[in-house]
Amino acid sequence: RDSLPAHIPLTAKMRLGFEDKTLALECAQAIAEGGACGLTVHARTKVEGYEPPAHWEWVRKIRDAVNVPVTANGDVFTLQDYLDIKTVSGCNSVMLGRGAVMRPDLARQIKQYEQSGSAREADFAEIAGWINLFFDLCTAKEANNKYPVARLKQWLGMMKRAYPQAEDLFARIRTLKEAAEVKQVLESFEREQKG
Ligand SMILES: Cc1cc2nc3c(=O)[nH]c(=O)nc-3n(C[C@H](O)[C@H](O)[C@H](O)COP(=O)(O)O)c2cc1C
Repeated sequence: RDSLPAHIPLTAKMRLGFEDKTLALECAQAIAEGGACGLTVHARTKVEGYEPPAHWEWVRKIRDAVNVPVTANGDVFTLQDYLDIKTVSGCNSVMLGRGAVMRPDLARQIKQYEQSGSAREADFAEIAGWINLFFDLCTAKEANNKYPVARLKQWLGMMKRAYPQAEDLFARIRTLKEAAEVKQVLESFEREQKG
């Protein structure tokens, strides 16, 4: 803390515990007293891994127990989840993890909703454009062309939980290994989606 320049804010992130939640409030208080100016809580223990549900009510307990702003995190996959975690936790600030990967427009939906009270979901044609952009950026950066292909498969593997079209695209590139082959499929896929 002494060596951190004053203009750099110190923030922290915690889970609810390792095996159980008995020390959750104490840990949060120690973090706040240690000088953190903000705390994000991933509402699960280490042992709970990524198993649903996230315990949003525990974020409220922590929020009530510390004097720094708390950001709620865990299992926000849709706009409705965002509204629900805010209600249950009492927090105004929410962190997205896998939801931002699975639904690349989730943050935009949230922003639209906050600004106007309604939100429009991206259609898959728009998302197909982002998939192409992502792949182009990865291949431009990476000399080894296995990496972009593996990353794309990983992304589609997550996105297919939210979109059947991602499952379809995944099936079409699943056995491909070369970036150039994958790019061809991505381009025709985007054209199809845009109709
Ligand atoms: C792509 C990705 C990268 C992440 N990187 C970090 C990280 O660098 N540090 C960290 O504390 N948590 C990281 N996480 C965990 C998230 O911040 C979050 O705590 C966790 O995924 C639970 O939220 P979720 O249920 O919305 O996914 C990452 C998660 C994802 C999906």
